[in-house]
Amino acid sequence: MKPTFNVREQSEIYIGPTADILSGVLPEGRVIVVSDATIDRLYHPLLAPYDTVLIGAGESIKTLQTVESIYRRFIELGADRSTFVLAVGGGIVTDVAGFAAATYMRGLSFGFVSTTLLGQVDASVGGKNGVNVDGYKNMAGTFTQPRFVICDPALLRTLPDREFRAGLAEVVKAAVIADADLFACIAQNTFGQLRSDAELLADVVAAAIRVKTDIVGRDERERGERRKLNLGHTLAHAIEKCSPAMNHGEAVAVGTALIADAAVRLGVLPDADRVRIRELLARLGFDLTPPVAMPLLLKEVVRDKKREDGLLHVVLPVGIGDCTVRPMTPEAFAALFD
Ligand code: GLY
Repeated sequence: MKPTFNVREQSEIYIGPTADILSGVLPEGRVIVVSDATIDRLYHPLLAPYDTVLIGAGESIKTLQTVESIYRRFIELGADRSTFVLAVGGGIVTDVAGFAAATYMRGLSFGFVSTTLLGQVDASVGGKNGVNVDGYKNMAGTFTQPRFVICDPALLRTLPDREFRAGLAEVVKAAVIADADLFACIAQNTFGQLRSDAELLADVVAAAIRVKTDIVGRDERERGERRKLNLGHTLAHAIEKCSPAMNHGEAVAVGTALIADAAVRLGVLPDADRVRIRELLARLGFDLTPPVAMPLLLKEVVRDKKREDGLLHVVLPVGIGDCTVRPMTPEAFAALFD
């Protein structure tokens, strides 16, 4: 089977049935799987042929301690430079396993079977991997492309609605950044249709991945254009820190709605587009109310350590399917919400 996308001639992205694709892309030789208990329960036959390292679930396990526990298991299992690591799971599994593989013995080759919508349209594609440090998101990591990513829409059937919805936040983000047709397509369909219509879902996943692979193809290391993929994320990361009960997609939905408000106040986004963005997210079932008072969120943004030369690169939508990046001090960013 031919890949649907190819990132920088290094990373093949497949959309289709896992079993058919996997046999054609796994290299000869030793394979170690990294996954979690839920995936092992749901898809045991997929994992069974390999030595498997199971890690915990949830954002709280995205730590250097988990990476160290994976290294220990790799050592016990005798993994060496020729071992291939196959991560099977959602964004947390692929972020952590990708980082462990990219750094163990200075780097093993790895590939992903991405089992959540959020993983398929964002986290597993593009070569970013890593862990949080003291609750600060993705503070340690590398840019290392997986050899392949398999995005199988059939695997999304077992996702709880809440997890599926979380992935839709990243789909809406991709649409707002660069694909007005994708935005219109989501707007024309209900949450239920997106969940149940396999062909529609495969098209939506492909369109969102295309936005990402096009951008990563031009700017892998996030020196410029890749920053656009962080639309809504400055506030989303603060929301996740202040309100750990919210998942990443839920936080991205609120962050995207709030940054659309700010873009109107700055005069770069027509109000009608802000309304369309908010209406679409609400119709998909997101609660767009910030979970804590804005001053608390903004204090977290100011405290956040992830900046360059003291500046945040704030992504502002300028229309449906178009956005711009503006460097701002955290204080200037906070002032947008006064
Ligand atoms: N999730 C944003 C990026 O991969 O750049």
